[in-house]
Amino acid sequence: MKHWLKGPYQGYHRKHDMQADLEITQVGPGTPGGEYLRRAWQPVALSEEVQDLPLLVKILGEELVLFRTTKGAVGLVEKHCAHRRTSLEYGIATDRGIRCCYHGWHYAPDGTILETPNSPENTNHKKFCHGAYPVEEYKGIIFAFMGPPDELPDFPILDTYNDYHDENSLMVPYSLYYPCNWLQIAENTQDPVHSCFLHTKISGTQFDESWGVIPVIDWVRTPLGMMNVNVRRWKDNVWLRTTETILPNYNQAGAFWERPDEEKAFQRIAMARFFRPIDDTQTQVMGWRYFNNSVDPEGKGDATAVGKDKMDAVGQLDDRDRESQQRAPGDYEAIISQGPVAIHERETWVSTDRGIGMMRRLVRDGIRAVRDGEPHASIPPRLQGAVPTFTQDSIISRPPLDGMDDDKVIREYGKRYAQILIESASVGPGERRAYLQEKLDTLFVKEL
Ligand code: FES
Ligand SMILES: [Fe+2]
Repeated sequence: MKHWLKGPYQGYHRKHDMQADLEITQVGPGTPGGEYLRRAWQPVALSEEVQDLPLLVKILGEELVLFRTTKGAVGLVEKHCAHRRTSLEYGIATDRGIRCCYHGWHYAPDGTILETPNSPENTNHKKFCHGAYPVEEYKGIIFAFMGPPDELPDFPILDTYNDYHDENSLMVPYSLYYPCNWLQIAENTQDPVHSCFLHTKISGTQFDESWGVIPVIDWVRTPLGMMNVNVRRWKDNVWLRTTETILPNYNQAGAFWERPDEEKAFQRIAMARFFRPIDDTQTQVMGWRYFNNSVDPEGKGDATAVGKDKMDAVGQLDDRDRESQQRAPGDYEAIISQGPVAIHERETWVSTDRGIGMMRRLVRDGIRAVRDGEPHASIPPRLQGAVPTFTQDSIISRPPLDGMDDDKVIREYGKRYAQILIESASVGPGERRAYLQEKLDTLFVKEL
């Protein structure tokens, strides 16, 4: 490691000239990273943020105005009016679009210029359009596709977007502000060992004491990205948890308060999230919190505490006083204090950081593929209404075996189950749990 210091009291010799890895952290228009992120649908704002007044938003380094017509259609357009550049955040929503406050130019959601009333005889406006992006409003979040229009993919519906268990199930949209680059927030999700330290041993039990058991971890590719397979011994049970990244910038995570006492198969997610860049040094974390009897049987979650700048778990945003943040830091404090853009050259890795390396490699490969006009992984088109995903928790009763190294045994469970889980993608969404239950019932590691 070229930044390692060779003895005590060597602070003076610390290198100060290390730079961020711009290729994978820049997000602005025209940058390789920005071009990559623009190939996937990105969340722009919560539906509740756009009512009768237009909303100024910044996404991928670009300022835009999001508005809703009086008939409910949503538009995402260039901020500055094409006439003489007044911001359309001061515009007036109409039944067909938005009208600039200054001289009344009138824009449709798709950027068509409908009227230029300060110059009624002038028909020039019919020859050009204002900048606009396609949008899709889905379960309380407004998404946009900001890539080239001829590459517009279908809006992807993941299997977990339709994962209901009972009439009390809820998907509550939320949006959290992080003053740092998107990649370091995404990386946190492929670093499951932090749960033992940050969330349990260091800050006290922020979720459940079972999180304090150091897992055996592996990272594997999935069709759309990667997942970590972390396996823990909990008394006589083996807890098989997978957490998934779908490229470029989506993650889903299982139950917050999992207590692996009861056997179960293929329990799905408690949280879906997009790490949606504002610019290089600011990110909006947006998605849904799931409330249902499967991921939270004891009802520890609080749907009323989730929304715009709200989350029902500690340390997920800047909502505490300084002392509490320092005494019991959470994900927010750990991640943003890595710096506005974490300097990768300064890091000192151990074996449990392999997932970080894998994620950076996948992101870099995607960025270069887009740059070179080649196929790249991004969220694919609709597949039977539900793209199969891989985040889940399963718990099986398998007491430790005499004379066998239990770490090796549970690692083997993880390896075999990951394979079965990947294969289960070809099973229809309604039958996948039963299929995996059957496979788990016959999964026994007896020798290595
Ligand atoms: S600046 Fe918008 S109509 Fe003139
Ligand atoms: Fe965490």
